Amino acid sequence: MGKAQETRYSSPLRYPGGKGKVANFIKLLMLENSLIGCDYVEPYAGGASVALSLLFEDYINHAYINDINNGVYCFWRLTLEDPNSLCQRIMSVPLTMDEWRRQKLVHSSESSAPEDLAFATFYLNRTNRSGIVSGGVIGGIEQSGTWKLDARFNREALCARVNKIAKFSARITVSKLDAAEMIESNLVQGDVRRLLYLDPPYFVKGEGLYDNFYAFEDHQKIRDAISKTPGPWVVSYDASPEILQLYSQHNPLCYTLSYSASKASKGTEVMFFSPNLAIPQVASPAGISVVDVARAKSAATLF
Ligand SMILES: C[S@@+](CC[C@H](N)C(=O)[O-])C[C@H]1O[C@@H](n2cnc3c(N)ncnc32)[C@H](O)[C@@H]1O
Repeated sequence: MGKAQETRYSSPLRYPGGKGKVANFIKLLMLENSLIGCDYVEPYAGGASVALSLLFEDYINHAYINDINNGVYCFWRLTLEDPNSLCQRIMSVPLTMDEWRRQKLVHSSESSAPEDLAFATFYLNRTNRSGIVSGGVIGGIEQSGTWKLDARFNREALCARVNKIAKFSARITVSKLDAAEMIESNLVQGDVRRLLYLDPPYFVKGEGLYDNFYAFEDHQKIRDAISKTPGPWVVSYDASPEILQLYSQHNPLCYTLSYSASKASKGTEVMFFSPNLAIPQVASPAGISVVDVARAKSAATLF
């Protein structure tokens, strides 16, 4: 991937099922529902690409990003609290199989310091296929593939992303709660109107993609909690029959999304919305351009 392309992305983490492609749709939704400037809560943040896009363009005032995965949590904390040391490591770490093996040990050790776990999570995310931390290295153990383990490790571009995010540190709060606990907390259930975006582990493929995934009862529990939540909320999922059935009380908006985790494949995804939200009429939430958003923005300021 060339440098110009790298800068299109705001998150330093690659994410299987990453939702950067729907960030522009969330902007339309916020414009249409007068939510500009509100706080935003993302209990399954992963690479947090939607949160970062909204923050960088001032659609939201504050982002609460949460992920139960300790490596992901430590990575976000290090990015916000000590971006210089993170960037020093990004600039100097060897991109070799010996180092990859070392980072795997750090990642699996219970006694690793938080900053080392943070860096190991980041290193494996950038050097493994599709960003799957527990998966295989790009190019294979023999490094005989066309792409090698450094293919997604553009040091300068990654540091630029880290430094940009760190500039927003006063407007980002990171936590490591169970999402169900966060949804039931005062942050979400209290009187302040905050936009809640839930992107739970996929129903069908979640187990292969993330270290933390859900059984059917967990998906059910989240549906029950979200259905009782008064504020504006959006949920996205893989559009499996079970999920469509589980959320049958809410209008579905289905669309296709390219999955980087399995080459050239596309999956059908679905979004559900709280009843108090007007849903922008678009062909696909994943196909909204910067021009579409600018048009909606100028229309919103006319009224
Ligand atoms: C589909 S991914 C989110 C991807 C994210 N939307 C992005 O664009 O990068 C789901 C995330 O939920 C996290 N997760 C799984 N179970 C969780 C739980 N019980 N509470 C909070 N986070 C959880 C996983 O670690 C994973 O990062």
